[in-house]
Amino acid sequence: MKVFAVTNQKGGVGKTTIALHLAWAAQELGHRVLVIDLDPQGNASQVLMRDVKINLRRGGAALMFSRGETLEPLATPAGIDLLNGHQYLDAAEADSDTITERGEALRKLDYTTVIFDCPPSLSKLFTAPLHWADRLIIPLTADFFTISGLNGTLDLLDTARTENPFLAERLVLNMFTKNARAAQIYARDLTATLTLKEPFLASSAMVREAVAHSQPVWAYRHITPANNSLRAPRDVRGQWQILCRGLLHD
Ligand SMILES: Nc1ncnc2c1ncn2[C@@H]1O[C@H](COP(=O)(O)OP(=O)(O)OP(=O)(O)O)[C@@H](O)[C@H]1O
Ligand SMILES: [Mg+2]
Repeated sequence: MKVFAVTNQKGGVGKTTIALHLAWAAQELGHRVLVIDLDPQGNASQVLMRDVKINLRRGGAALMFSRGETLEPLATPAGIDLLNGHQYLDAAEADSDTITERGEALRKLDYTTVIFDCPPSLSKLFTAPLHWADRLIIPLTADFFTISGLNGTLDLLDTARTENPFLAERLVLNMFTKNARAAQIYARDLTATLTLKEPFLASSAMVREAVAHSQPVWAYRHITPANNSLRAPRDVRGQWQILCRGLLHD
């Protein structure tokens, strides 16, 4: 089992979008995939279940904070299992013994790939997966606020490594606009000090649209009123597929 946590305390950088694409890529490769949605908004759960009310359903990911409980994922139409996120998750608390016990319970499940979608907060919902994961996927955008907030996330990662020494991180640059000069400068500054996983992910309305239709951008077809079928640009489809497969394998 390989456990990924898609995380960044900054909101809106693409955590949920990337967590979903990783899950779809893994499922296409024949992995047995579990998504654990730790975000009280439950967006990943809504997309996977194709049900906007799934974030009113208790249990789900809350079981990761409740010692001794059986983890009972839901089956979703895409063939990916889910511990759903919901509005009651905000109250999640756990001591360190519970976090250890829940990590052991997770490792006993029969999945090859587990993906946590984490919320932009500093609660247990953010810190607990640092103990459970093998890999942190940290989406970034090339702008001042994301970059200034990154050090906080990297400091927490260092702290988590004292208990989870093999935890490795992969930084993913999302919503990159290669023709925007400011984005280019921020990307250059980032790559001067950090290793970013390539390819960078372009900003594309088709990514948003595909996710809203519960599909990865590389598979999605937009049907026009004249019944023409449009796909995302080839380079965008390629970037997402190559990046997700690369993250799953290294
Ligand atoms: N590469 C992209 N191109 C265009 N839109 C994108 C891209 N990546 C993400 N988005 C859009 O940006 C918004 C934020 O993305 P997303 O919800 O995945 O971020 P998040 O980090 O999970 O946010 P939160 O911190 O609120 O959980 C969404 O509307 C999403 O559709
Ligand atoms: Mg999210």
